[in-house]
Amino acid sequence: MQNFDYHTPTRLIFGKDVIKELPEVMNQFGKKILLTYGGGSIKKIGLYDKVKELLKDFDIYELSGIEPNPKYDPSVLDGVKMCKENDVDVILAVGGGSVLDCSKAIAAGAKYDGDPWDLISYQVKAKDALPIVDIITLAATGSEYDAGGVISRTETNDKIGYVDPLLFPAVSFLDPTYTFTVSKKQTAAGCADAMNHIMEQYFCEDSTLLNDGFMEAGLKSLMINAKKCLDNPEDYNARAEMMLTCTYGCNGIYSLGNSQSGWPLHGMEHALSAYYDITHGEGLAIITPRWMKHVLSEKTVDRFVKYGVNVFNIDPSLDKMDIANKAIEETYKFFESINIPMHLREVGIDESRIDEMAHHVAINEGLDEAWVPLQEKDISDIFRASL
Ligand code: NZQ
Ligand code: ZN
Repeated sequence: MQNFDYHTPTRLIFGKDVIKELPEVMNQFGKKILLTYGGGSIKKIGLYDKVKELLKDFDIYELSGIEPNPKYDPSVLDGVKMCKENDVDVILAVGGGSVLDCSKAIAAGAKYDGDPWDLISYQVKAKDALPIVDIITLAATGSEYDAGGVISRTETNDKIGYVDPLLFPAVSFLDPTYTFTVSKKQTAAGCADAMNHIMEQYFCEDSTLLNDGFMEAGLKSLMINAKKCLDNPEDYNARAEMMLTCTYGCNGIYSLGNSQSGWPLHGMEHALSAYYDITHGEGLAIITPRWMKHVLSEKTVDRFVKYGVNVFNIDPSLDKMDIANKAIEETYKFFESINIPMHLREVGIDESRIDEMAHHVAINEGLDEAWVPLQEKDISDIFRASL
């Protein structure tokens, strides 16, 4: 087991109607709030009105229209400007991972005198950030419990995971009933994203019985509960279990003491959604089985056998390579069964920019140090196999 230093300072407040604690929580941080949200889903579900009513004694400034795959310009820049102009005390992010991620970049930018891109691109280390409180409305990213935000910059095709312990939300409200209205497409994509967060930690050199069991249970929970949520969007227990399983995704708790895998699937997918603005979870689901096939070898087969036997109940007495291949097939079939388009062409990506994207990934993502190292040619092969 590897050494680690682990601290998650985020307070999770979980369950039906927990939002009633919002005024008391916000009071701890000050009176001036930047309320951030996306394209309007929070208005449709009545959450916007509820938040405004609960916070009627606060000064609220609003940044709306944060895009899926949130953009540096205009969203981050506008938010930073509003915080500085109004001397905001705290950010309240209400929405999915994109709203949270954007709010994290704003929180750091608001306390920095220069161009916020200096921070996101790691040229300068942030010294401070505004506190963030969030109400997450979509189970997927785990942004509500981690220190990262992913920001896109259109003109350079960059999509950067900006991580800094200063960006942990101070408080996250998780009420599964707010996820009842999440569309089938986003429910499935959220499931695929969270499964990938686990797989990125599972497929590594050095793990433990404890972590493997935790992650295998997480994968099974996501697959079973996603189907329940798709069949009955208002199944509280299924939405609740999905929400919590997703929340653990990226904050390291699934793999304390494991060796690092380098998160190759995310490294590759971020290029797909940077170049083509596709849904992150769908991009991941498409490339996952192709990556698995690409990295399967005598050296890696045992990990796939464990995955196949423990997650998909494949007969352990079969030949090792057969188990591994069947596990990859089951992974593909599961994503297909929740109606994820399983070819890049179906989400509008063709051959034309594959080499350019592979080059971008090879230069920026450090995947030559992944669990199974990937060079530019490996990356373009995986993209081509996904077409
Ligand atoms: O914009 P609104 O109107 O709010 O609609 C959103 C959006 O269209 C909608 N939605 C959210 N909650 C809803 C709802 N619709 C109905 N009912 C609700 N309760 O869903 C759409 C997608 O929202 P988005 O926030 O983009 O989805 P998600 O939570 O999957 O976030 C995706 C972003 O997170 C990044 C991804 O790269 C992508 O940019 N990631 C962030 C991570 C992190 N911070 O740790 C890790 C992930 O690996 C991921 O990279
Ligand atoms: Zn992800």
